[in-house]
Amino acid sequence: METEEEKWIKHYSSLHQILLVGEGDFSFSLSLALGFGTASNITASSLDSYGELIIKYKNANANLFALKFNGASILHEVDVKKMKLHPGLEKRKFDRIIYNFPHAGFHGKEHKPKVIKLHTNLVCEFFRNARDMLQENGEIHVSHKTTYPFNKWKIEDLASNYALELIECADFKIEDYPGYTNKKGAGSKCDEPFPLGKCSTFKFMLCTAGATKLARVRKRKLDLVTVKYQEIPIQIEHQPAALFDRGLPSCPFTFTNDMPLHNGLTRHSSIRNECRRIFGGYLNHVEQTFGRIGYDVRGSLNDALRLGFERYTCEVRGRPLSGYIDILEELRHLSVLRSEWLRQMLAILDMQR
Ligand SMILES: C[S@@+](CC[C@H](N)C(=O)[O-])C[C@H]1O[C@@H](n2cnc3c(N)ncnc32)[C@H](O)[C@@H]1O
Repeated sequence: METEEEKWIKHYSSLHQILLVGEGDFSFSLSLALGFGTASNITASSLDSYGELIIKYKNANANLFALKFNGASILHEVDVKKMKLHPGLEKRKFDRIIYNFPHAGFHGKEHKPKVIKLHTNLVCEFFRNARDMLQENGEIHVSHKTTYPFNKWKIEDLASNYALELIECADFKIEDYPGYTNKKGAGSKCDEPFPLGKCSTFKFMLCTAGATKLARVRKRKLDLVTVKYQEIPIQIEHQPAALFDRGLPSCPFTFTNDMPLHNGLTRHSSIRNECRRIFGGYLNHVEQTFGRIGYDVRGSLNDALRLGFERYTCEVRGRPLSGYIDILEELRHLSVLRSEWLRQMLAILDMQR
């Protein structure tokens, strides 16, 4: 039997059942469809009716045509506040539910509490509906600006009211989605883009035993690191006995031979070495920033790494391992940034002394 070839566009696989809500001119849905080479697993929706869409957005008609041509299901007048009852969605479950840049329209200055309340109410109602529409291990993705006053929405806290746990917050880069043009979506300039600035894709999963365990491990790690931070004078000089030089703790997971690889990576030794290299670099930076890491902290970091890896591979069959390496690379990069930031802070403090 011929199996469908899986394609990935950033966080999304052509094999995922994907629901997009609150679309503007449908260019994001179309970007995924063209990247996958098919839209047969895509359901794309808008609050606007078809008639409203083609008046509001100059490219809506062409984008909708291309989506349908590639096999997408298109729904209009889908209100995220009650979408689980929509006749076209009622009995469906999705691997990914995506709402890019939720916004309740222009009702005054964005920093005003009553305007923020309108937006957060929209997001809450979206979470309340979307959580019941997920497949097992499904994820809800909200892309959102992270600068003031949008950071006041506290997306993560809103989600936690619906037993949704933040599993990742990834930088949103528009260039990852060729052809996507973000839209204001309301008012006389609805077809114009809004400045994106710094923004992220917030990924949530329903709290399950696995996710909760992961959260507990994360919290324990944070608590321990916080205690260390308070107790240990920060040592910025290079530590000759850095963890990586002493040899790493043994790799916290094993790679089996049937794991699919791509990008020309040879099976397990190069991947294992890569993970150890990146994770080792990470631990080194933690040590250089906070002082020597205790055995318990290292253990919980290992737990977090193992659980994260298990979920990464279990979630989607055949997911490329190189994606996990990218995640580790990002972790190390963040760690490097944090060290650099601390170094600068100390230099400023030194100058003030
Ligand atoms: C800032 S625009 C973003 C549009 C599009 N997602 C994008 O990234 O270009 C906000 C979108 O939220 C939609 N929206 C507002 N309230 C909604 C609701 N109750 N249900 C569904 N969509 C809604 C608007 O129609 C608009 O398309």
